[in-house]
Amino acid sequence: MSIEVTINGRTLKGERGQTILQVAEENGIKIPTLCTHHKLIPNGACRVCVVDVGKADRLEAACTTPISKRLVVQTNNERVMESRRVVVQLILDNLAIDPDKLEKDGENILLDLASELGLKVEKGKLLSEPRKRIPEDSRNPIIIREPDKCILCGRCVNACNDFRQYGVLNYEGRGYDTEVTSGFGQELLMSGCASCGECIEVCPTGAFRPLEIEKVQEEIETVIE
Ligand code: SF4
Ligand code: FES
Repeated sequence: MSIEVTINGRTLKGERGQTILQVAEENGIKIPTLCTHHKLIPNGACRVCVVDVGKADRLEAACTTPISKRLVVQTNNERVMESRRVVVQLILDNLAIDPDKLEKDGENILLDLASELGLKVEKGKLLSEPRKRIPEDSRNPIIIREPDKCILCGRCVNACNDFRQYGVLNYEGRGYDTEVTSGFGQELLMSGCASCGECIEVCPTGAFRPLEIEKVQEEIETVIE
């Protein structure tokens, strides 16, 4: 049974169980997202997709909020935009490396979001005290992990736990010191990682990437010799 909702003044139809984000996307209304990925069940972690549904005390995450009868949604009023700006600015402020380095497959999700929201990013210069640098983990046979590229979107944790149910990747620490860790602080190699590669696929910043094939060949040749 279809449900009628109003998004940005347009009367639209959606199906029971669909989220605000799904109905908006089906109708060409863009809502920015960060923690969602088409393979994963949204968990509302990043708050980039917040929308105004007329509640005085809070905004709702469009990716997890189901549509309901007579729902009225604003996706881009000032309240919404300000909330998104705060979220993205916090990520920028907490980076350990230059945001230019977070490119994956020719896209830089963080800089794109910042630009959409009108945030000024001083490239080549961090905006505030960076969090501590964490060394690259490259001992896994196929996955290289660069924790400094992590923007804590949570996609890899979602993929490893809810999608694959391996439970290798998790959060550690709180607030400013939160990190994604493997096997409760061990290298990927020792963490029980099955090398499924889901983290590589879902990570938007290249914090997980595949070992280059040339390196694998080099290592095989070294072992053979
Ligand atoms: S490693 Fe990548 S996918 Fe995982 S939380 Fe960080 S940015 Fe997101
Ligand atoms: S995209 Fe909806 S909370 Fe992250």
